[in-house]
Amino acid sequence: MSQLDDLLEQIEDLEQESREKLEEIESLQECEELRVKYLGRNGEIQELFGQLGQLPDEARAKAGKGINQLKSSLEKKIEEKQEKFEQLQKEKQLEEESIDVTMPGRRRGIGKRHVITQVQDDLTDIFKRMGFSLALGPEVESDYYNFEALNIPELHPARDEWDSLYVDEENLLRTHTSPVQIREMEKGEPPVKIICPGKCYRRDTPDATHYPVFHQVELLWVDEELTFANLKYLIRSFVEEFFGPEFSMRFRADYFPFTEPSAEVDIMPPNGEDWLEIMGSGMVDPSVLKAVDYDPENYQGFALGLGVERMAMLKYGIDDIRLFYRNDLRFLDQF
Ligand code: DAH
Repeated sequence: MSQLDDLLEQIEDLEQESREKLEEIESLQECEELRVKYLGRNGEIQELFGQLGQLPDEARAKAGKGINQLKSSLEKKIEEKQEKFEQLQKEKQLEEESIDVTMPGRRRGIGKRHVITQVQDDLTDIFKRMGFSLALGPEVESDYYNFEALNIPELHPARDEWDSLYVDEENLLRTHTSPVQIREMEKGEPPVKIICPGKCYRRDTPDATHYPVFHQVELLWVDEELTFANLKYLIRSFVEEFFGPEFSMRFRADYFPFTEPSAEVDIMPPNGEDWLEIMGSGMVDPSVLKAVDYDPENYQGFALGLGVERMAMLKYGIDDIRLFYRNDLRFLDQF
């Protein structure tokens, strides 16, 4: 066999072999391997070119043409394969990254105000509609505002009613919202007509009706001609709005150092058997007015304080105050 025939046969073999191999490949990687094997710098096409040098001119031209044809046809086919695999890879990637809009979404619960906040806001709003303005005070309070100015001097037995939490000799976590009365009256002359919601603290061991943190709403109205009758009308209106017109109410004489006379207010539902205590109230004691330099001969007023947790428990029939603070959504979601 002549050298030319031998080379032509090699070309034909390589053509056949590469065609079969190209059929079999299944990935971009294999495609690249074939390209290196045939078309690379030390590839088989290059090896065939290397053999041309030994041929006479005419034969060299013929064989050269054959190798060139094989080379360009291989380049073309490998490129096509490469494009095909690239396309497939892209489609696969798109599919993996695509979003199925028909899948059910992951639900995020909608947040809402805590039941205590809701009730506190409801209570405050009722009084705001009656013309009272919102007033807030600090939760760390001085002995003066929490006790002294409210007619509870240092050795007064009424202090024993409050299991207070002191932060130092002079200051404590306020045991009630009443100190806001003093702070507001100090700001100027009457009329003072305010409603003050807020957190209070007492050194109580938690049980069904006690918790060391709780909320109160305090009301104060001081003006020139206010009487106990105005207080009664106001509380009656409040009971009707918050609990309902069918509820009865009564005053029960009581004692608070900062009011004189003082009264607890009780309510009873239509078919109830027991009176339920809802707030403390009374006419502002003259000594409290004097503490803020108001002349008790010219001004009178009344005040009341109610417990927000207690209101919420009565309104919704909840029998354990601790439920409010357990953060159990099965409970809290009901309100
Ligand atoms: N500060 C009282 C307490 O925490 C509640 C109270 C009673 C407030 C009578 C008042 C009031 O304004 O007039 O027990």
